[in-house]
Amino acid sequence: MNPVTEDEPRDFFFEAYDRENIAYGMQPSLELAAYLRQVVAPTSDEAQSNKDGCGHALDLGAGAGRDTLALAAAGFNVTSVDVSERGLDRIRERAVKAELSDRVQTLVCDVRELDIAAGRYSAIIGTTVLDHIPAADAPRVWQNMCDGLTSHGVLYVQVHTTEDPGSDQAPGKDSNQPVSETADAVINYFRPNQLIEWAVAPSSGLRVLRYEERLEWDTTHGAPHQHGKAVLLAVRQGFHPDWFGQPAAFPRPNVPQNHE
Ligand SMILES: C[S@@+](CC[C@H](N)C(=O)[O-])C[C@H]1O[C@@H](n2cnc3c(N)ncnc32)[C@H](O)[C@@H]1O
Repeated sequence: MNPVTEDEPRDFFFEAYDRENIAYGMQPSLELAAYLRQVVAPTSDEAQSNKDGCGHALDLGAGAGRDTLALAAAGFNVTSVDVSERGLDRIRERAVKAELSDRVQTLVCDVRELDIAAGRYSAIIGTTVLDHIPAADAPRVWQNMCDGLTSHGVLYVQVHTTEDPGSDQAPGKDSNQPVSETADAVINYFRPNQLIEWAVAPSSGLRVLRYEERLEWDTTHGAPHQHGKAVLLAVRQGFHPDWFGQPAAFPRPNVPQNHE
């Protein structure tokens, strides 16, 4: 049971993260995983022995940590931020099991209250969190995320869009597809092109590697249901990593370990 008192806000995701089969599973976000494989994952022996050189990463709305764990495994020192203490418990549990606990720190904090130091983070992740905060607050958190990146930093963001069957706006509200059990937590569905407009605004200082608006089926929690998502992978302007796309389109032949 969700242990709350009248003074404390309810942990909306408590049950979802308390299960044996934890909501959202363990597979990291696809585009982030591809970036880690292609750009970050060390392939040489020298790089393997220097795996701590990836810098700091911030996983905002980290949930039960599927992206956090992938970042830590790739060599980042990750701070996982969430308002769900149960989610952060599960992250610590998973980090111990994966022998990555020295690279994972957890912080119970509302992302709107978080002080993100400018220029500190080599990776900042927000896999469905900007859509869980009021529309009036999201641009400020977004700008803090962009400003928090180092010159070689990567930003990965997912948001639910108005295509989601849980949205109160068209076309999602007219969809007859099944709605997520946690849809009530999404309070700011992004309109078409909204996230890419933010990403290409000069104030973001970003170079977009990949942007997509799509429908997804989610089978990781509750009954299978559909989502409408916008997905963004971007780096700092002026940074040109060896990125071949997701899935990799035309990588160098015979280098499967680095270019999927
Ligand atoms: C849909 S879940 C996604 C979890 C994780 N990023 C993943 O993809 O597996 C959204 C998460 O955002 C968290 N969240 C919602 N509002 C938040 C806020 N204001 N500050 C920090 N975390 C928040 C929730 O507790 C929840 O864990």
